[in-house]
Amino acid sequence: MSAALLDGKSIAAEIRTELAAEVTRLRARGVTPGLGVVLVGDDPASHSYVTAKERACAELGLHSDDNRLPADTTPEALRAVLDRLNADPAVHGILLQLPLPRQLDETAALTAIRPEKDVDGFHPVNIGRMLVGQDAFLPCTPHGILQMLARRGIPTAGAHAVIVGRSNIVGKPLANLLLRKDPLGNATVTVCHTGTPDIAVHTRRADIVIAAAGRPNTIRADMVKEGAVVVDVGVNRVPDASRKSGYRLVGDVDFEAVSRKASFITPVPGGVGPMTITMLMYNTVQAAVRAAGAAE
Ligand code: GUN
Repeated sequence: MSAALLDGKSIAAEIRTELAAEVTRLRARGVTPGLGVVLVGDDPASHSYVTAKERACAELGLHSDDNRLPADTTPEALRAVLDRLNADPAVHGILLQLPLPRQLDETAALTAIRPEKDVDGFHPVNIGRMLVGQDAFLPCTPHGILQMLARRGIPTAGAHAVIVGRSNIVGKPLANLLLRKDPLGNATVTVCHTGTPDIAVHTRRADIVIAAAGRPNTIRADMVKEGAVVVDVGVNRVPDASRKSGYRLVGDVDFEAVSRKASFITPVPGGVGPMTITMLMYNTVQAAVRAAGAAE
């Protein structure tokens, strides 16, 4: 079998077209959705993610409030920026790019964001609401993956989904969304992690494999069954002297070999990445819709 590409770029473009119509409606009512962006430090990957997120805001007609803070920012200084954004009615959503430098406590910072503005879906209130099936901002990468599958007619209901990776950003929330009794869920879910003795035993039984381990070649061809759907969340920089940048991006999946066996596979770049950004735009627009409704 040769896999069809699950093309995140084109699926993201479909969703952005839908969002643009919503933004036009909001702007006609005098509301421009606004995203407060906070980036602390000099991590090159975080810089490029944040730049891509701000570009997406500009393309959709969203306002972004850019805050780039030095690597030695104190907890108090970060708190002051978050408090200002929390209080600003022009800012409907706040993105605090992770990871943070070591002196800053991630949980404390994420908890300082007002849940109504937590468009990343990382605040414990939103995580708890998601877990029990209440209305909540859904974390962008997991939500983007579900949208990708749904919009390309790949059913999750009744499927066995195997997730490799248990991060707070991807593995844990995705496992919960996939097991919800919902048309976008209803899967049987297995989560593998660094404590799993033999990951291949699980991935070989999967109808859907989601690789979110942050390590190249985590998923090789002998680890997937014929016809499986393979979603690659990994974004790894590997040295490449032939590139001007000196590196190229690869996922967690051995793309060449696995694409000969899978039915669908996401590329890296151009797969999950554009979906993550698009779902952040989606949540920001939803936050503006709610705020505009509340103000009426
Ligand atoms: N770092 C890596 N992925 C993400 C994400 O989706 N949101 C934020 N805020 N930081 C990240």
